[in-house]
Amino acid sequence: MTIEMDHAWTPPPVLAPNIYPVDWRVEDRRALNVYERAKDLTWNPTRLAWDTIDVDALEPEERLAVAYHGALGAMFEYAAAPQFLHPLSTLYERHEEHGLILLCMATGRDEFVHEEFFRRVATTMIPGFPFEFTPRTELEHRAVQNLRWVEWKQSRMWPTYTEKVVLGDNPWLLQVSILAPEIVGMVLFDRIVDGIAWPALKEGYRHVDVDERRHVAYGRLLFEKRMRDRDRPALGTDERRFLAKLASDGILYAMGMLALPQLVTSDESNFWMRPADQAPGHFAETHNRLLGRAMRVMTGEDADAMWEAARPAVKKVKWVLEQNGIDDFDDHLPVFEAFRIGARERSLEEDYTADLLAR
Ligand SMILES: [Fe+2]
Ligand SMILES: [Fe+2]
Repeated sequence: MTIEMDHAWTPPPVLAPNIYPVDWRVEDRRALNVYERAKDLTWNPTRLAWDTIDVDALEPEERLAVAYHGALGAMFEYAAAPQFLHPLSTLYERHEEHGLILLCMATGRDEFVHEEFFRRVATTMIPGFPFEFTPRTELEHRAVQNLRWVEWKQSRMWPTYTEKVVLGDNPWLLQVSILAPEIVGMVLFDRIVDGIAWPALKEGYRHVDVDERRHVAYGRLLFEKRMRDRDRPALGTDERRFLAKLASDGILYAMGMLALPQLVTSDESNFWMRPADQAPGHFAETHNRLLGRAMRVMTGEDADAMWEAARPAVKKVKWVLEQNGIDDFDDHLPVFEAFRIGARERSLEEDYTADLLAR
């Protein structure tokens, strides 16, 4: 049999724009390094020793409190996943370098693993919690209603996000808003890892904490890349202020995992209580009572101590912005007011991601 070999044939030109050019270039080795860490440190919440948690040793309100914290965490993580994965196709379209594309995918995947972990924390405490169990006490009713409020708040974020980030062709912009919750989350999980006695949760939170550090590293790489891109116009004052505001909003959003009263600078600035005429009257009271109780069970500390622990995280977010040339902060950014951090106050130079981003 003869095989006809027509070396003269060449394919027609690929359709433009082709989002899958064969292009595995590496411009910044750090993205691939972080991706390698993500592969090495993959974990499975199913394998944690859930059956060693003695739920009956807790009082009913303690169980409800930890379940509430878990459900809240699961809702945050579930909402984070598409915020990473939706821009994945934008990174393809823009022919971003391969390492960033891989890291984007791995980060989105991590958020699903975290969501599963938190969901299990909730349902280990109370099967079916929050929306597939029947509340019997007033506090249980309020806890479920609070989480419905959180669900509604989150639903309102998506249209803004798609308009500003996806249609605006700015996947890097999103990372600025997500950087803040990641850093705040790390501080919270650090405390839980130190304080908690149950091995399943100690191990789970340790994994989540380590993963979040990589997410911060990814956010920083993308952010730095945009800020140093000579082919794109430098950001104007308005855009820089918008980014600072975005980071501030991101922190306020993440603070939903901590207690709220310190956040109440005014109804206008408090994401969780706004609009004031629609927030359930008891939302903040129930939220603070349950999260305070959960923190005492899990860290041995009260909500005020957790709030103080979050202060360095806010200064750290400020540092990341400053590193990228965003340093003309508005003195009245709500988050700085809430944490009593002056816009001119020295930021925190301690770097949570130094080892990950070493060249
Ligand atoms: Fe996460
Ligand atoms: Fe994350």
